[in-house]
Amino acid sequence: MFRALIALLLTVFLMTPALAQEAADGAAAPDRSATGGAQTLEDIMARQRGEKVDNSFRSSVTGDPDSAAAMTEQLGTLGGASDPDLWRGIRFDSADITSQVRGPAATVLVQDGGMKWLQFREGPLATYGGYAMLGTLLALLLFYVIRGKIRIGGEKTGRTVTRFKSVERFGHWLLAGSFIVLGITGLISLFGRKVLIPAFGHDAFSTIAVASKWVHNNVAWAFILGLIMIFVMWVIHNLPDRTDINWALKGGGIFTDAHPPAKKFNAGQKLIFWSCIVLGGSISLTGLALLFPFEINLFAGTFEKMNAFGISALLGLGELNTVLAPHEEMQLAQAWHAIVSFALMVIILAHIYIGSIGMEGAFDAMGTGEVEEQWAREHHSIWAEEAMAARDDKAKGTAPDGATPAE
Ligand code: HEM
Repeated sequence: MFRALIALLLTVFLMTPALAQEAADGAAAPDRSATGGAQTLEDIMARQRGEKVDNSFRSSVTGDPDSAAAMTEQLGTLGGASDPDLWRGIRFDSADITSQVRGPAATVLVQDGGMKWLQFREGPLATYGGYAMLGTLLALLLFYVIRGKIRIGGEKTGRTVTRFKSVERFGHWLLAGSFIVLGITGLISLFGRKVLIPAFGHDAFSTIAVASKWVHNNVAWAFILGLIMIFVMWVIHNLPDRTDINWALKGGGIFTDAHPPAKKFNAGQKLIFWSCIVLGGSISLTGLALLFPFEINLFAGTFEKMNAFGISALLGLGELNTVLAPHEEMQLAQAWHAIVSFALMVIILAHIYIGSIGMEGAFDAMGTGEVEEQWAREHHSIWAEEAMAARDDKAKGTAPDGATPAE
């Protein structure tokens, strides 16, 4: 009998949390009359169980002395003017804060959304971003092992043709050099705490982090200038045309030895160019928003347009919030800046591969600016014919006045 009683008690004891969970899942709003509308023990327990708690009862009711529970009651307050009320007011931005500091964010002392941003930055952003880069490096290594270096197939002529003028190469290396520096310093600020502190300690990391930040903020201008330069110089050669379809259908001859005809830039290169312009442009804009905090607010307006054109619904994001706190704008700018940077870094890793060890003769185009004629014929046949004809005409002095070799 005694044992049966123990068993019964144990069963009831073990079942209680499950029943409580069910009640919480049932999600009927708890009766808060006993606390005058303030949170109840059930609210606290639900939060501790990691359940989603609707905070509106707290955000909209901050300190109402008339409905406050008397001090003598369990969970009673000091007449509605308790510390929790003050905290609530600060947390939900309804407290009357005055500050000597000026600026749009000076009176926001606690910002809830910051936690979500921090968790995203330290979690999925770092994890998936890191995997994407490592995965790309592995894929390129695999491609190199399987395909090997793409060689010049035909007989080399020993003659060269000018592919890029010095100003073009300057624009390219300004963009490339700054991007690489920005990539490395950006990765230091994202992964520094996890990777560099354990390796070098706090003191050394502090110096590295301060230097990285300074370099990152200042080199950004070189990237923006490089981006504008290549856009102005190359946009005309990157407009899509019919040759791109054929080139893409033949996979650019990357896996075969076919050489589909191409003008100055083939479809693959046009993709790289437009990735640099669109993604690089977006990185620059969000970077400027971060460089001048709270002055450039990009997201509320963008979300408004996305809602209006039905883009957010199409993407399954529902109605996006168009009233954003100043800090939220900054957090979104940082998150987008980093996501797009990872995307561009992954694309650029493939570009660096093909422009260096991946293809014989390619680097010369950006090194000396001169490429082997046979390379030009194989990879950019239409451009090569025009460039060589213009060069020969110029040499013979038959070029029309002011004509320069086709670029
Ligand atoms: C060490 C790094 C890099 C190397 C070796 C390299 C090499 C090259 C070469 C050889 C070309 C000319 C290809 C041709 O003649 O058809 C080129 C073009 C180009 N590069 Fe780079 N590059 C590097 C980094 C970058 C970076 C970081 C960016 C941008 C952030 C970039 C953007 C471009 C663009 C937009 C073009 C023209 C389109 C194209 O050819 O894909 N490059 N690069």
